Amino acid sequence: MSDEKAVTIPAQAKSADSADGEILLKVSGLKRHFPIKKGLLQRQVGAVHAVDGIDFEVRAGETLGVVGESGCGKSTMGRLITRLDEPTAGTIEFEGKDITHLGVSGMRPMRRDVQMVFQDPYSSLNPRHTIGTIIGAPFRLQGVEPEGGIKKEVQRLLSVVGLNPEHYNRYPHEFSGGQRQRIGIARALALKPKLVVADEPVSALDVSIQAQVVNLMDDLQEELGLTYVIIAHDLSVVRHVSDRIAVMYLGKMVEIADRTSLYEAPMHPYTKALMSAVPIPDPKRRGAKSERILLRGDVPSPISPPSGCRFHTRCWKATEICKTTEPQLLELRPGQRVACHHPENFADQAPQDTVLLTAAKEASELVPDAVLEESAETSAAVAAEVAETTATKEPEAEKPSVTKAEETKVEKVEAQKVEKTEAAEKPSVTKVEETKVEKTEAAEKPSGTEVAETKVEKTEAAEKPSVTEVAETKAEKAGTEEVEKAEAEKPGTEKSGTEKAADDK
Ligand SMILES: Nc1ncnc2c1ncn2[C@@H]1O[C@H](COP(=O)(O)OP(=O)(O)OP(=O)(O)O)[C@@H](O)[C@H]1O
Ligand code: SF4
Ligand SMILES: [Mg+2]
Repeated sequence: MSDEKAVTIPAQAKSADSADGEILLKVSGLKRHFPIKKGLLQRQVGAVHAVDGIDFEVRAGETLGVVGESGCGKSTMGRLITRLDEPTAGTIEFEGKDITHLGVSGMRPMRRDVQMVFQDPYSSLNPRHTIGTIIGAPFRLQGVEPEGGIKKEVQRLLSVVGLNPEHYNRYPHEFSGGQRQRIGIARALALKPKLVVADEPVSALDVSIQAQVVNLMDDLQEELGLTYVIIAHDLSVVRHVSDRIAVMYLGKMVEIADRTSLYEAPMHPYTKALMSAVPIPDPKRRGAKSERILLRGDVPSPISPPSGCRFHTRCWKATEICKTTEPQLLELRPGQRVACHHPENFADQAPQDTVLLTAAKEASELVPDAVLEESAETSAAVAAEVAETTATKEPEAEKPSVTKAEETKVEKVEAQKVEKTEAAEKPSVTKVEETKVEKTEAAEKPSGTEVAETKVEKTEAAEKPSVTEVAETKAEKAGTEEVEKAEAEKPGTEKSGTEKAADDK
């Protein structure tokens, strides 16, 4: 652990909320559940929780990057805020006006101000229409007659996005992917919108064309004073273009912060894992490549997302509270909002909860030791910082709990290390114990095992959080009573892939 890492915590991140721009778009509690229907009568049997209650705002002139794994709801969110899709719940305000339920005619004037660049440049352009017709369509739909006529304006737009104005009469199939993406951008810019939502604007392009399109969007923003919401999964692109970044996981926003804070001191473990995958251009930190955090398992199904914190099935820091209580998106630093009980680079929000879930122990095996140490040190350092600030403000009251938070962090890292060492030396011991319990008790009720283990760990570790002792007591304690309790808590819905895999073991 070098000192350099400890210094990476910006004491006061630049507050995006203090940025000059007015709030252009405000989203509150936004949800989109896609119903799943079955049978002759097409009865609803469930729903895909594609977007499940998100809150954020976009300020005029800024670029908000939205990142997250495939299927986490980014495109759905983009379609909702441009009102191409109807939300299940929540509100969308544009320039202070509620546009959540505006109909086609109500939305017509707004369409001029809010435009979208679609994810797929191949399917988003009508193959039967010429480029001139496609880019000129917004003028015709809005009844706008640009100075000099539509054709002249379309040709001007073509040259703005770096295409030959003489290609006005060509069809989409006569263009490359990069050129089509430019056509999509030209169409979105035709009516000089205020907000452009660009869904993966460069992901279908090769690297050199990506750079051209990104630079083009940058230039256009400066020239036309555009506001962007750029959805992407390429973190290098997002870092380059964004002022602020929102991180989504399974339909929720888990962290939102300005670019510097997010890349230098991410607070949500999922953000930290995503950031660890970004190549570091600094030659001095090339060794940091080995610190990449691998996430355990796949993203759970959005049909039945995990309880509490949705990331708890893959998080190496998850404790019981993560499984039972959903963390709220709180502003822990100015401009940095995070939904996590045990954030990185910050004082623990639930220091009393110290016993890791079984899934967390398994997940931590994929996390390099250096990362765990760094996590404990940076969080302890911030906790001390917070303690100092609090002590000056409120002399005595808060001090003890922060010290406890520091101790807890160190305990957790120690516990994770012990786990890892034990697993390396005698990999099968814990597994054998677990299997015994499963065979005797859980043969008929397999889904109770994991919950039962967690229960036992929780009870025992309240007195002695040592991982070795907890492992020893697992086999003795996971009796009928606990399995019954676990059975009672068993959710009625389908289990996530990760939990199923754990049970299968
Ligand atoms: N029209 C629809 N009907 C049912 N489910 C849908 C529909 N559109 C999206 N979904 C589901 O909603 C979830 C989110 O999809 P979305 O396209 O928003 O993800 P994404 O984050 O944009 O992914 P990617 O990075 O792969 O583009 C997925 O599980 C998807 O299967
Ligand atoms: S520590 Fe808990 S709340 Fe935070 S991301 Fe992990 S599982 Fe979620
Ligand atoms: Mg998408």
